[in-house]
Amino acid sequence: MRCLVTGNHGYIGYIMVHDLLKSGHEVVGYDCNYFPEEVFGRGDTFESSKGIRQITKDIRDISDADFKGIDAVIHLAGLVDDPDGRIWPDIQMDINYLSTLELAIKARRNGVKRFIFASSTSVYGIKGDELLDEESSAEPVTWYAKSKLYSEYALSKMISEDFAVTCMRNATCFGISPRMRVNMVLNCLAGFAYTEGKVNVVGDGMNWRPVVHIEDVARAYINVLAADPSKVSGQVFGVGCGSYRINELAEAVKEALPNSVIVHGDRGNDNRSYRVSFEKMEKVLGFKTKYSIRDGIKELIKGYEEFGLTKEKFQEDRFWSTKYYKSLTDSGKVDRNLRIKTG
Ligand SMILES: NC(=O)c1ccc[n+]([C@@H]2O[C@H](COP(=O)([O-])OP(=O)(O)OC[C@H]3O[C@@H](n4cnc5c(N)ncnc54)[C@H](O)[C@@H]3O)[C@@H](O)[C@H]2O)c1
Repeated sequence: MRCLVTGNHGYIGYIMVHDLLKSGHEVVGYDCNYFPEEVFGRGDTFESSKGIRQITKDIRDISDADFKGIDAVIHLAGLVDDPDGRIWPDIQMDINYLSTLELAIKARRNGVKRFIFASSTSVYGIKGDELLDEESSAEPVTWYAKSKLYSEYALSKMISEDFAVTCMRNATCFGISPRMRVNMVLNCLAGFAYTEGKVNVVGDGMNWRPVVHIEDVARAYINVLAADPSKVSGQVFGVGCGSYRINELAEAVKEALPNSVIVHGDRGNDNRSYRVSFEKMEKVLGFKTKYSIRDGIKELIKGYEEFGLTKEKFQEDRFWSTKYYKSLTDSGKVDRNLRIKTG
C-alpha cells in the first residue's frame, strides 16, 4: 500500500517509516519539522527513511492534493504531552483534534481506504487498580488526552464500507529512536539513572502506567494495515506490553544499573494513573508484543552509552517535548499558534 505517514519525523514516526518500508509498503511522509534533524543511536533507521517523498507542511494546512495516490493514512502528527495542560490547550485541540477531522474528511473524499489514528491510553485518566480495557470508561484529565478521545469519537462517525478507521491507544512508549525523546517514563527513569545515578520517581511511584516499545507500536499498526478491514474498522485497540506501577519500572532500572539509587520527589500536578489490559489485539489479530521493559532498559542504556549521553546533554530541550515547544516559542521560531515562521 502507499501510506501517508503524518508526523514521520517524530520519535515513533522514524521507526514506523522504517518498518513500513521493510514490510514492502510505499511511504509518503508529512511533517512540519518542528524538531531538528538528529541521529540518536540507530543510524540504519535514519538512512532507510531517506528517499521517501516528503511533504513539509503544517497538518493544519492539509489539502486534497496531498492524498493523490494514497491508499492508507497513518496519522501520528500531533502535539504530544503537556501533562499539566497549561501551555497550549487551544493549539493542542486545533492540531490534535480539529486537524485530525479535517485530515480524515479529506482522506475519505480523495479515495483513501484505511485510516489509522494514534490515540493514547492516557484517555482513561485517573483510575484505581482495576484492569481497564477498550470497553472501560475513558475520563481524560489533560487537554492532550481529551484531544485524543474527541478524535476517536469523531472518527468513529466517519467510517464507511470504503473507509476503514482504526484507533490505536498507544501506551507510553520506550526505546531508542533517531528522533529521541526522554520525557516518557522509562526513557526518563533510565536517563536519570544513567547520567546521574538517580532513578528520579515523581511522587510516591504508586501510580500505574502502561508501556510499550516503539518497534511493537510500529508492528501493531502494520498488522492492522494487513488485516481484513472487517476485523479492524471501527475498532479501538490498546497497544502495550503491560502496565506497571512507576515504582516497578524504577526497580527494573535499578536492577540494570545497580549503583543507582531510587529517589522520590514532588508529584507536581500529574495524578494520572491507569492500569490497562492489552488482550484485545491478541484476541482479534493474534498480535503479541516482542519487547519487555527489561529489553527496553537494556537497549536504552546501550543507546545512551553509544550516544555519549551526559547529564548536560540529557537536559537539552530537543529531547523533552514540552520544553522543546516552549523553547521554540521563546526563541520566536514559531508564532503564538506554534506555526513555524518563514523568512
Ligand atoms: N510517544 C508516546 O509515548 C506516545 C504514547 C501515546 C500516543 N502517542 C501518539 O503517537 C503519535 C506520535 O508520537 P511521538 O512520540 O512520535 O511524538 P513526537 O513529538 O516525537 O512526533 C510528532 C511529530 O509530529 C510533527 N507535528 C506536530 N505538530 C504538527 C503539525 N501541526 N503539522 C505537521 N507536523 C506536526 C512533529 O514535527 C513531530 O515530528 C502522537 O500522535 C502521540 O500523541 C505517543
